[in-house]
Amino acid sequence: MDASKEKARPARQVIGRLWGFMGRYRRMYVIGLALGILDALCQTLIPMVFRTVLNALQADPGGFMRQWFWPGLGAGLLLVAVFLPTAFLFHTFCSISVTRLVRDMRNGLYQHIQRLSADFFHRRKVGELNQRLSSDIDNMANAAMWGMGLIWQSCMITWATIMMLSIEPRLTALFAALMLAVAVWSRYYMPRLRVLSRNVRDAGGEVSAIVTEYVSLNDLIKSYTSEDVMDARVHHYTNQLRKKSERFVWQQYIFSDLLQTVTRFLAPFALLFVGAALLAGGRLRVGDLVAFWGFWLLMGGAVNALLQTITSIFTGLASADRVLEIFDENPLVRDAADAVTLPAVRGDIAFENVSFNYPAEKDQPVLRQVSFVVPAGRRVAIVGPSGAGKSTLLQLIMRFYDPLEGRITLDGQDLRRLAQANLRGFVGMVMQDSAFFSGSIEDNLRLAKEDATAQELEAALAGANALEFIQAMPRGLKTVLGERGVRLSGGQKQRLSIARVFLKNPPILLLDEATSSLDSLAERQVQQAMDRLMTGRTTLIVAHRISTIQNADEIIVLHHGRLVARGRHVELLSTCPLYRSLCAHQHLSVAAGSPEMPTRWAQSPDDPTPA
Ligand SMILES: Nc1ncnc2c1ncn2[C@@H]1O[C@H](COP(=O)(O)OP(=O)(O)OP(=O)(O)O)[C@@H](O)[C@H]1O
Ligand SMILES: [Mg+2]
Repeated sequence: MDASKEKARPARQVIGRLWGFMGRYRRMYVIGLALGILDALCQTLIPMVFRTVLNALQADPGGFMRQWFWPGLGAGLLLVAVFLPTAFLFHTFCSISVTRLVRDMRNGLYQHIQRLSADFFHRRKVGELNQRLSSDIDNMANAAMWGMGLIWQSCMITWATIMMLSIEPRLTALFAALMLAVAVWSRYYMPRLRVLSRNVRDAGGEVSAIVTEYVSLNDLIKSYTSEDVMDARVHHYTNQLRKKSERFVWQQYIFSDLLQTVTRFLAPFALLFVGAALLAGGRLRVGDLVAFWGFWLLMGGAVNALLQTITSIFTGLASADRVLEIFDENPLVRDAADAVTLPAVRGDIAFENVSFNYPAEKDQPVLRQVSFVVPAGRRVAIVGPSGAGKSTLLQLIMRFYDPLEGRITLDGQDLRRLAQANLRGFVGMVMQDSAFFSGSIEDNLRLAKEDATAQELEAALAGANALEFIQAMPRGLKTVLGERGVRLSGGQKQRLSIARVFLKNPPILLLDEATSSLDSLAERQVQQAMDRLMTGRTTLIVAHRISTIQNADEIIVLHHGRLVARGRHVELLSTCPLYRSLCAHQHLSVAAGSPEMPTRWAQSPDDPTPA
């Protein structure tokens, strides 16, 4: 539960919104509900049929057999013929319209989430979103299903009450009192049972969480020979589950068996003996009593179900509220109404007094008054201590966020004026850690160009120095990556993500060099691939490797979000103390280019003290 839960919207509003989502299936749902009313009516007619037949038999058995037997049977069969299709269509129409509503909401919610801005994904936990997409939507669907139950049960109770009143008001009053007593008792008892059953589910969740974790951390447990300790912990949790389950079972059966005794024994006997007294006094006939017995069975079920329905509907509405909350999130970065779509770009990028802070940390400036230009086709390296704002700067070019002040331009056009999809089509990005879907290598490459030919795929892999290792795999491009697939090494991942950008072939590149170290061969392969990729493209690269820095047309030094210096490597060594200190921390020789010099900045220092 999150804080926004406090302002839960009123049930009427939630139902109204759901009704809106129901859209095309509304008519089907309403017809279904109307058939539900007819279904309930058919069922309440059965005790009335018994009553009519029995009373007629009691009065004049011979006459009944001669006059009413066949017409009666015909009417009964007619009722069956009406009931079957009514019930079938009632259930299927309501259920189908709800499953379609659920499908649409799930698709809609997923699409909506995917189009929200980066800040949303920093605010919300993936697991929590997942819950809203799965179990909350399921609960909501249940509520809509229970909605059909609500109509049916209410009709059943209303019809039955009307019919009973028409037979004998006093017996109806006794009957209603019994029903009310059972309802009140259930109402009091049900919440208790719900709490207990919730405890069982929570305890079950704990067991499954801990067992899953321990199985997945098998290596760790073995390496510390902690099997016995972990066994004991698991036993503790399973025992908790047993205790809670037993507590629930006790209460559940005390309740349900007592309820059964009352509804199936005590109440019928009460009805029978009060009825018998009325019968003896000539105020009631046998058929009337049998009809009451029939109503008792029907209504008992309906009243019980109604109590459950009401609680389920409340759960469903709470879930629906959680789902709607996400639907009400608006993307922070939006296309302007008159957004421009450029057919092609040269690739001139300029930052003009750009300041920025993340929406979650309003008083923590991440970039302050940053201005610089990257002429088309040039290579600019960004260096600075960890947390200086380097990755953030790249994200602003992708428009994952918009600057708070100042502007960023592409070919002189403010990025906020460009359609996001248009802009992102011109930019290739290789992040600090490369991500892949759990599909084949080919699927992952095709993310960049769905209709790429085999030659194009091969050329992209060759350019990224990735062809050889992929061809060495038994299944080549069809090799499956991910949890149940092949795990790639750090260098392989980087080369594969470079291949993906090769395939996209964008005029602008944003590269965030990985800070984790590779061995020198892997390093060289990645470097070569990067160099090939950067040729002829406007490039902004967050640099951790000395070779990248040396090949840059310009180096920008960021510190606490400010651009503190710019120039070439040798220049900066003499003019920028921070730059010199960064180099010194990384043991980079001041005499740039000497052969024994390490080829990368292993890790940016957290707090460099300018020399
Ligand atoms: N999503 C976010 N929400 C709030 N603050 C963030 C977010 N991402 C980064 N920050 C903060 O913004 C600042 C700049 O982060 P950024 O990732 O741009 O640094 P960096 O220069 O790329 O560092 P590194 O070299 O370690 O990758 C840091 O103080 C960081 O804590
Ligand atoms: Mg970074």
